[in-house]
Amino acid sequence: MSRILVTGGAGYIGSHTVVELIGEGYEVVIIDDLSNSQADVIDHIEEITGKRVPLHVFDLCDKSRLDQFFGSEGSLDGIIHFAAKKAVGESVEKPLLYYHVNILSLINLLKAQKEYDIPNFVFSSSCTVYGQPDKLPVSEETPRKDAESPYGNTKKISEDIIRDFARVNDDKRTIALRYFNPVGAHESGLIGELPSGIPNNLMPFISQTAIGLRDQLKVFGGDYPTKDGSAVRDYIHVVDLAKAHVVSMQRLIEDQQKSNYEFFNLGTGSGLTVLEVIRAFEEVNDVKIKYEIVDRRAGDVVQIYADTAYANDELGWRTERDLDDMVRTAWKWEQHLAQMRE
Ligand code: UFG
Repeated sequence: MSRILVTGGAGYIGSHTVVELIGEGYEVVIIDDLSNSQADVIDHIEEITGKRVPLHVFDLCDKSRLDQFFGSEGSLDGIIHFAAKKAVGESVEKPLLYYHVNILSLINLLKAQKEYDIPNFVFSSSCTVYGQPDKLPVSEETPRKDAESPYGNTKKISEDIIRDFARVNDDKRTIALRYFNPVGAHESGLIGELPSGIPNNLMPFISQTAIGLRDQLKVFGGDYPTKDGSAVRDYIHVVDLAKAHVVSMQRLIEDQQKSNYEFFNLGTGSGLTVLEVIRAFEEVNDVKIKYEIVDRRAGDVVQIYADTAYANDELGWRTERDLDDMVRTAWKWEQHLAQMRE
């Protein structure tokens, strides 16, 4: 049985990936500093899978603590690295924090990968590396652009670090996964996104408005050159995204790569406007979302969606969940959170 370390495994995408890994027979161990997640996620993962996953709570920037972990952990077949800071706006306010945490934790992990001879590494990247692309849809051949935020730049720099590391370590295999917009939650309603404070992202803001935690949603921009004037994104269900990590790890373990550093776009291939997402949420869940259209948000791209051909062909992976599944599970999760608060 392959053993996988999942950093950030208590977080949103991490916890869903842990569930899918266990479902495919992997043994999992988590490192998470719980800076943007909660320890009871482990209970919920156990409820879903019947497996208790070991959780080690520490900061990956602490290399001596990381050495202590690897020194006592026994052999591991791979690492899936999610742990990172991810709020675009906060990264503009606190660039050094973002560069410090996201880059140092990656460097520490790559050093450990070499020192403790762990062959396989899956990295959590983002379509933010493409900026506003000149041509749509975005394929893996699409050139990367200057990042719009320090957060986006940490993803770009991280990819470069991994590429350069791979060049001189041909016994180490890596896949970077460039996510489009992950939304939704596990079908059980037991795990999902846990935004701290006011959500920055669209779907949690919609569901918090629906449940009454927010008065109204602001739709950023109604005058974009799109079909209804609101911005277009490629929303992907978090469980489909999680499954892509399992398939990628499998590809690494079976040594099926074309080169020892590969990257893939993970999206559905369809662009949806903000208003389309709101409408679907209302219709599928039979709730009303109060919203107003306001000015564009600084740094937002007009539209972006993925060309999924390369991931489909090479990984043998495709998305199976549609917009209805996304808004339905997002609402189920929001209702679960409301019950927890009672
Ligand atoms: N939006 C609103 N109102 C809100 C929140 C969002 O109208 O309250 C809009 C945004 O303007 C955008 C769309 O909904 O048009 C999606 O916004 P999100 O914040 O959910 O997602 P982004 O596309 O801005 O950001 C995502 C990831 C980032 C990543 C970026 C790359 O969250 O990590 O894609 O484009 F950097």
